[in-house]
Amino acid sequence: MKFDAPMGDTPIDTGRVVGRPHARVDGPLKTTGRATYAAEWHDGLPGLLHGFIIPATIAKGTVTAIDTAKAKSAAGVVDVLTFENFDINGTANGKTVKLVGGPQVQHYHQALGVVIAETFEAARGAAALVEVDYEAEAGAFSLDGVRADAKVCGAFGGPGETRVGDFEAAFEAAEVQFDQEYRTAAHSPAMIEPFASIAQWEGDGLTLWTANQMIATTRSSMASMLQIDESRVRVLSPYIGGGFGAKLWAHADAILAALAARKTGRPVKVVMPRGLIFNNTINRPETIQRLRIGTRADGKIEAFGHEGWSGNVEGGNPESTVLSSRSVYAGPNRLMADHMGHLDLPEGNAMRAPGDAVGSIAVEIAMDELAEKLGLDPIELRVMNDSQVDPSQPKKTFSNRHLVRCLQDGAERFGWSGRQAPGTRREGKWLVGMGVATAYRAALRSASGAAVRLETNGRITVETDMTDIGTGSYTILAQTAGEMLGVPVDRVDVRLGDSAFPKSAGSGGQWGASSSTSGLYVACVNLRREIAQRLSLDEERAEFEDGEVRSGNRVCSLLDAVADGPVSAEGKIDFGQSDTHAFGTFGAHFVEVGVDSYTGEVRVRRMLAVCSAGRILNPVSARSQVIGAMTMGVGAALSEKLVVDERYGCFINHDLAFYEVPVHADIPHQDCVFLDDVDPHGNPMKAHGVGELGLCGVGGAIANAVYNATGHRLRKVPMVVEDIL
Ligand code: MOS
Repeated sequence: MKFDAPMGDTPIDTGRVVGRPHARVDGPLKTTGRATYAAEWHDGLPGLLHGFIIPATIAKGTVTAIDTAKAKSAAGVVDVLTFENFDINGTANGKTVKLVGGPQVQHYHQALGVVIAETFEAARGAAALVEVDYEAEAGAFSLDGVRADAKVCGAFGGPGETRVGDFEAAFEAAEVQFDQEYRTAAHSPAMIEPFASIAQWEGDGLTLWTANQMIATTRSSMASMLQIDESRVRVLSPYIGGGFGAKLWAHADAILAALAARKTGRPVKVVMPRGLIFNNTINRPETIQRLRIGTRADGKIEAFGHEGWSGNVEGGNPESTVLSSRSVYAGPNRLMADHMGHLDLPEGNAMRAPGDAVGSIAVEIAMDELAEKLGLDPIELRVMNDSQVDPSQPKKTFSNRHLVRCLQDGAERFGWSGRQAPGTRREGKWLVGMGVATAYRAALRSASGAAVRLETNGRITVETDMTDIGTGSYTILAQTAGEMLGVPVDRVDVRLGDSAFPKSAGSGGQWGASSSTSGLYVACVNLRREIAQRLSLDEERAEFEDGEVRSGNRVCSLLDAVADGPVSAEGKIDFGQSDTHAFGTFGAHFVEVGVDSYTGEVRVRRMLAVCSAGRILNPVSARSQVIGAMTMGVGAALSEKLVVDERYGCFINHDLAFYEVPVHADIPHQDCVFLDDVDPHGNPMKAHGVGELGLCGVGGAIANAVYNATGHRLRKVPMVVEDIL
């Protein structure tokens, strides 16, 4: 079905199941250790071997010799394979660098091969015996060093520079001019579950259990890298312990497990150790951003300019810092541009709300500074510059933009009127302050399919290659089928993450929740028709409720429809470009911090997010998404920073001891409120995702709270003690 807005009334609108809080249907499996994560499929795989990645220890240069003799003769070792033994065609979809390097090395800890042994310990021990000689070359590792040579560049196929009106002239003529630069550090997704894969071949057919957000993309990656037909590849990823974008694409564990299993004729498991993840896989690059905003004396924006600079490997994407600035605040004259310089660091790629997560930090600090310069409350400035049309696409109206309500509702709930002048509120040794920021993230839509079946016992089975990266996909899909077919959630069995199932939108860009449930919605519409026909009921008027199908004065049990066997249907949603509407999710973040006036330590004291994202499919899982994202925002604001060692060209803090993510003790109180609304223009569920929205703006709100507490403006995150004192 091609989605055609707006959507009239549907069974979803009854809200019996969808939109209600529901605990995760997969929760018991996870809390009792029965959910089979990628590394845990070993039961039933006789002869399983273990692979350990051989990583490069230079950032740039050539491997001149690789000696595997000692490793091969070590106890328990079955084989050692290096790039010299491989024939890999290209790299994974979405990736720029090769999953296996050599003889050319493209970045530090790039995989050069794999040691295969009977046990993990034997493989790890032998990997240390592989001797690699290099001819190292000097590389570029500093963003400041390459900034001058950075070129305008678009991310993921988007434009590098966009203009509306005449930015320079309008900025020059503006009554109030604001011009500042900001910096954000490089981040690692640092999910709990490491990258892991198990590969098994049967003849020329590969089965790959892996941790991956986008099954169909990875299936085609594997087929093309291994030069086999896609029909010969099956990818399974039913449970995933966090992805944050890093698991959008296949990584070295997947291809090395496949190659090792093909060579040895036995199943092989490759788990990437924590210490390799930071440099072997992907990161969110460091950015420098310049904000130039010109306003009238009353605060109306006349000129909005946002430029970003980041570095990446040759051919990679820039961090798309200016993405949201195209749409978030009004202003008739606009300049947005991302620039990329060449760096020889590990590949920068998509991490949760790519571009926007750090772009919004700079923009929201700038808006706070600008409000002060104008003598306005920062909420007033944002409200004054709200826009119901997309400022960069003036023919398109936002289908559902309630930013002003989010800001005003949040101000009321948070006690914003109690905010004091910068540096004036003291509680003992603590300087206390409040900050606010806008949250905005596009609501992307992506084609998605599903199969649904009414079984002879009256249960419903849902199958789609959609993934659940800890987000709650299982639950919202069960709710969708339950609502459409009139059965409680506990009578729905959802099966995900298998390339044998219909292709879905996958988990990325916060499009997964709305797109995958919309695909299932279409499948359920088709199944309802099949069921009504079997029961000789008028399909237009049939209502599905309480395990019954009712039409006119006839009432049938769902079981009557399956007397001769199960009934099944498939469905798929497709989205075109809308000529009339822009789709976004909106919110407001409020933060209160305390800053220790002796040590400079920042403690977050309270956080509130008020969000508007159409229908919220499940307030429990949506809330978890938002508070998790807020926590990630605290990390970006106060602790997370990949530190480059320019001698080696690597991130030196490549583990969770020295790359500091927030822990529970850092997060005392979080609240999340969703505005009650629906978006009839976006998709049949009238819903949007919130997993990335919750992150956008958080760092800005914290920085603004630190300023309000101390009267000292910081334009660089993370804000660490030495910057605050
Ligand atoms: Mo997201 S960075 O598209 O998983």
